[in-house]
Amino acid sequence: MKYNVERNTKYDFAGQSYSTKYPNLHRYPATMIPQIGIELLKEFDIRQGKMLDPYCGSGSSFAAALELGINEMQGYDINPFAVLLTKAKFTKIDTEEARETRKELRNNIFEFLKDENNLNKLPIPNITNIDYWFSKEVTQNLNVIKHFVYQIKDENIRNLFLIPFAETVRACSYTRNSEFKLYRMKPELIANFNPDALNMYFSNLKKVLSIYEIVYYPKLKNDVKISVEYKKFEPKEQYFDVVLTSPPYGDSRTTVAYGQFSNFSNEWMDISYARKIDSMMMGGKKVNTIYQDGLIADHLKEIDAQCNKRALEVSSYYKDLENSIEKVASSLKNGAYSIYIVGNRQVKAVQLPTDQFIAEKFEKNSFKHIITYERLLGNKSMPSKNSPSNKTGAKKSTMTMEYIVVCQKDK
Ligand SMILES: C[S@@+](CC[C@H](N)C(=O)[O-])C[C@H]1O[C@@H](n2cnc3c(N)ncnc32)[C@H](O)[C@@H]1O
Repeated sequence: MKYNVERNTKYDFAGQSYSTKYPNLHRYPATMIPQIGIELLKEFDIRQGKMLDPYCGSGSSFAAALELGINEMQGYDINPFAVLLTKAKFTKIDTEEARETRKELRNNIFEFLKDENNLNKLPIPNITNIDYWFSKEVTQNLNVIKHFVYQIKDENIRNLFLIPFAETVRACSYTRNSEFKLYRMKPELIANFNPDALNMYFSNLKKVLSIYEIVYYPKLKNDVKISVEYKKFEPKEQYFDVVLTSPPYGDSRTTVAYGQFSNFSNEWMDISYARKIDSMMMGGKKVNTIYQDGLIADHLKEIDAQCNKRALEVSSYYKDLENSIEKVASSLKNGAYSIYIVGNRQVKAVQLPTDQFIAEKFEKNSFKHIITYERLLGNKSMPSKNSPSNKTGAKKSTMTMEYIVVCQKDK
């Protein structure tokens, strides 16, 4: 197969961030800036029909689609927190009622706190190592906020109110805030760390409501239908007109730990399997054989020569990605576009051409590869350095470029 790759500076969006156009309601790792999606949909003249994002994360492909007038979208993600975030952004609520609810919430909480005995009436939250991550006072206050947020009857308003709760949980914990993974602060910082969870929650809530009202609400016309579920995508024969997605570029353990990033939010929202999410993600399950199909096989052989275990781990990722592409391919209508945005990681100093792998697998499933654009990865919030040989200290900049792989299903 002749593989067309073109360096395209139009897609760099140098100096721009997510928030230039779409301020996020909550941080999320490895987001795609919606500007990229908007430009792609314009370039390929995709302005209507049904969009799929099987790895929707914080929902940036939907932000892009709305801009072009696409009004039916389905998203999937295995991380319940990602799904909550996307739902909160893209579900229309009555903003007047939301403001009323905020007042009531504040009153209810402060009334409740007037009697200290009330605190003992609430169930103890089921958080792993709770005392290691939260002070007693913070735990109590978070527990009160949680109790009253969960009493909000309107599910959509409740979802939106849970976003600042997640932010507050993170900010009030002993986690280092600059990290996506969970690292505890140094003891000397903990000694002076005394956050006011209640004030923080209400100030986060104010910010979230105002971003929602200004940025997202006006785009949610009455005919917009966006559904999001926390599960793996299952095929829907010939259903979608376009897929726009950025899949993980490796397994969660050695690349971006989406599960770990969202661990507290998920646990505080009673997701019992919160700690297992990373192992449920792409490449999270062990396989017993090295992946042997197509162009990636030689690269895996090279890794295998250095370390069989790493080659098996990477094989698991490609096996999952291949399975997922088969499902996505059969779910697209004839003539539909698939647009995948990925980075090519290095493992054991072997550069893995994941972009080409994606094109190859779509071609195997009745698609034609149209073009791959290479863009500068300057504005994605993810680690720019990792340890490709897994040796401590052997850090190397691995992901300076990102690839936009465009394929089209045969007509
Ligand atoms: C690169 S992120 C997507 C970011 C998204 N485009 C955004 O801008 O927020 C990849 C997402 O894939 C999800 N994920 C990983 N494995 C998955 C699987 N097997 N099925 C569905 N989602 C998965 C992760 O939770 C993560 O949210």
